[in-house]
Amino acid sequence: MKRALSGVLALATASLAAPSSVVRHGRTLPLDLASRSLNSSSSTAGTKIILDNDWSSAGFIPYLLALNAGWDVLGLIGDTSNSWALQTSLHGLATLEVGNLSSCIPVYKGSDYPLILTPETFQTWEDLHGDLAWQGAFAAENLTYEALGNDPTSGDPERVSRSAFFEGYPNGTLAGNHSAAWMVEQVRKYPGEVLIYSGGALTNVALAVKLDPEFASLTKGLVIMGGYLDVTLLQTSGSTLQADLNSDINLKIDPEGAKAALTADFPKITIVGNAANQVFPTQEYLDEVYEVKNGYTSLFYEHYGTEFPFWDETAMFSVLEPSNVLNSTSFYLDVDIAYNSPYYGNIIGYQEALKPRAQSLQKVDFIYEIDGDKLKAQIKESLQYPKTCADLASF
Ligand SMILES: *[C@@H]1O[C@H](CO)[C@@H](O)[C@H](O)[C@H]1NC(C)=O
Ligand SMILES: *[C@@H]1O[C@H](CO)[C@@H](O)[C@H](O)[C@H]1NC(C)=O
Ligand SMILES: *[C@@H]1O[C@H](CO)[C@@H](O)[C@H](O)[C@H]1NC(C)=O
Ligand SMILES: *[C@@H]1O[C@H](CO)[C@@H](O)[C@H](O)[C@H]1NC(C)=O
Ligand SMILES: *[C@@H]1O[C@H](CO)[C@@H](O)[C@H](O)[C@H]1NC(C)=O
Ligand SMILES: *[C@@H]1O[C@H](CO)[C@@H](O)[C@H](O)[C@H]1NC(C)=O
Repeated sequence: MKRALSGVLALATASLAAPSSVVRHGRTLPLDLASRSLNSSSSTAGTKIILDNDWSSAGFIPYLLALNAGWDVLGLIGDTSNSWALQTSLHGLATLEVGNLSSCIPVYKGSDYPLILTPETFQTWEDLHGDLAWQGAFAAENLTYEALGNDPTSGDPERVSRSAFFEGYPNGTLAGNHSAAWMVEQVRKYPGEVLIYSGGALTNVALAVKLDPEFASLTKGLVIMGGYLDVTLLQTSGSTLQADLNSDINLKIDPEGAKAALTADFPKITIVGNAANQVFPTQEYLDEVYEVKNGYTSLFYEHYGTEFPFWDETAMFSVLEPSNVLNSTSFYLDVDIAYNSPYYGNIIGYQEALKPRAQSLQKVDFIYEIDGDKLKAQIKESLQYPKTCADLASF
């Protein structure tokens, strides 16, 4: 997930990114359990899922969507993509605490670094091939910018920027630091049942794939936010914001991790790149969601903004029910891992007849279009009436 602008854009918009208001924690309305279960029951209820993401103050919707559909969220992993894994893991924990969900959903910290890239080698790649509009965790370190309420980038991955916790700093602790080992354990415990969601870099999924050769095949599948195709013209014509929306930081921050994960033998791989740009929040929509006041709707109203599409939310929505996807295709996917390539970290698609012989690629589902109205309705419901640990116990 990419949230605010950084790098070249940050300098121009730094004052906009500073905290504009304090998050207010509202009360949660009592749940009408009978109508809730009616509204939320889906054919896929009970599916187990692990969500790996670069969590942020307003980044909780993917797991609320899963809970709203009656899914069993085994836990969250915080990865290094927009910021370092420790900061994103703590955001995951803090946002769970906002809804009292941390007592039933653990958070594991992912790897600090991608498999190969470092801030220095990423910045050298940019010197050769041009800056990305959004540089994620590898934007140059700027402690002044951090102190204004932004997540840390570059420098020491173990440092935390407390000023960026608009949701409140977490009171609890992370369940562990070895997310890949934990993922392997969970998948071995429930063979064939666990879907892996990745909304950030694929580093931890890649580590799990390499840790246990049967990991991928024992999951239920993998869904990712990222993997854009045929968007080069959109990156060159138009604003740097348009370039940002069509760039692919989740893959480009760890190309080798992306290749290791996306060429592993998952029973099903769903790529939500281009389609993730389909639906944007509008001010009217934020107002409508905020008609019901609670901790989540407050954070959404005050910190989600209207500039970026529902990237990570669309990826989650795409796999909740088959009917949520209106149009998709499938092809064999590879990831460019040539450091000297301008497309380092971008995906490549092949049809059956022309796919490479010397390597084994996976056939993936590539989403073109989702049911946007249904996505907005489900986001609204999951924010206004979030599930609680008591609801989970009854599944
Ligand atoms: C459930 O759906 C009905 C009909 O769409 C709606 O009137 C009701 O408010 C919903 N209940 C909740 C708790 O969202
Ligand atoms: C942690 O506890 C303090 C004091 O009760 C509270 O103000 C804060 O919101 C809590 N943090 C989170 C993330 O819930
Ligand atoms: C969380 O628990 C606190 C204290 O028990 C309660 O005041 C608050 O309403 C709860 N929040 C949610 C979202 O359930
Ligand atoms: C660091 O961030 C501050 C606040 O946004 C900005 O004024 C300053 O120009 C930045 N420094 C660099 C070297 O980019
Ligand atoms: C995780 O690592 C941090 C240091 O980065 C340490 O403070 C913490 O105790 C570790 N947590 C667990 C559960 O091992
Ligand atoms: C699916 O999307 C592709 C690419 O945009 C388009 O060419 C095709 O016409 C669409 N199919 C349907 C049924 O909408």
